[in-house]
Amino acid sequence: MKTTLSVIKADIGSIGGHVAPSKDLLKTVRARVGAALGGLVSDFHVGATGDDIAILMVHDRGVGDPDVHALAWEAFREGTETARGQGLYGAGQDLLVDAFSGNVKGMGPAVAEMEFVPRPNEPFLFFAADKTEPGAYNLPLYLAFADPMNTPGLLLSPELTKGFAFRVQDVDFTAGDRVIELNAPEDLYNLAALLRDNSRFVVESIRARSDGDVAAVVSTTRLHNIAGKYTGKDDPVALVRVQKNFPATGEILAPYGIAPYVNGAMRGSHVGPFMPVPHGTGTSYFDGPPLVSCLGFCVHDGRLTEPVDLFAHPFWDTVRARAAEKALEMRRQGFSGAAMLPYSELEYGGIVAILNKLDARFTVVAPVETEPLVH
Ligand code: F6R
Ligand code: MG
Ligand code: MG
Repeated sequence: MKTTLSVIKADIGSIGGHVAPSKDLLKTVRARVGAALGGLVSDFHVGATGDDIAILMVHDRGVGDPDVHALAWEAFREGTETARGQGLYGAGQDLLVDAFSGNVKGMGPAVAEMEFVPRPNEPFLFFAADKTEPGAYNLPLYLAFADPMNTPGLLLSPELTKGFAFRVQDVDFTAGDRVIELNAPEDLYNLAALLRDNSRFVVESIRARSDGDVAAVVSTTRLHNIAGKYTGKDDPVALVRVQKNFPATGEILAPYGIAPYVNGAMRGSHVGPFMPVPHGTGTSYFDGPPLVSCLGFCVHDGRLTEPVDLFAHPFWDTVRARAAEKALEMRRQGFSGAAMLPYSELEYGGIVAILNKLDARFTVVAPVETEPLVH
């Protein structure tokens, strides 16, 4: 019998700015999902990373199930009432439409779901990130699933040496899901050519080529494509199965030691280091830095074990200290060059408005007389 894991997350209000949801807000969401326990869902976990609340649900209804999506929508809607009642900042922010219409995809919340026949032991990791975009997982996933410098299992395990199939989505395309399948290792350079652009090309899912089983899924929501304008960064979630035919937990986590620079942070418009933090951590310095949390679970007979908070381990203190240094270093150059995002990725239209106003004040002082080129 197949099991489905669904993570649906949204920012529906937080304390002190875009920092962290209130305890009451989490309680409301938990209570609403909890009411479906033993019915629609066989188990669940509700938690927060930065200002986002993620609902992880276990069920057997497959990916994109309207009732499971409706449950999450309803929990976020009820949570929004609590957030409004408490006067939280940005209450209901990510619920971009008034009425639910069958699937939360395209309505604001981010979704990552996978369906599989569980192994006798089914360990998986649940990632949640804040103040960044879905492409923030590109580099860690590429290194974990395609680079033997990071993942010795790609050399050591006969299953892993068969490689992995990456499905990459062009998230700038709005008339549907525009995707490409690329096989590692044969397509490595093609994969790298796409994944260098975190804002446009996003790893949507990964499958093991040994047996076609799903290994990883990432939410690919682009809020500004849905709303027609930037309404906040997309703060992505991801699920990754580990061990046996998949990379080991430590191989999946290792790339986060880089604390790579990603897009997001202050006003969703800057570049900052991706800092691994314990689950439940809020944001702070410069509306960030971009955060990522990771909980490890096993799922068995539809039930989750308690989570292990993988970035709470003392090892990550050193990485956090380095990430803080990287954040301070980048901030020293303020708005200049690589520190701030290109116009297309800014959360605000202010700079474009300034440029438009200045346009009329530009003068061409040394016109170049050019004859049209005739071949
Ligand atoms: C992401 C996030 C930020 C804000 C941004 C806008 O979780 O919180 O990207 O969307 O800082 O802030 P305000 O609401 O002040 O425009
Ligand atoms: Mg926010
Ligand atoms: Mg957020």
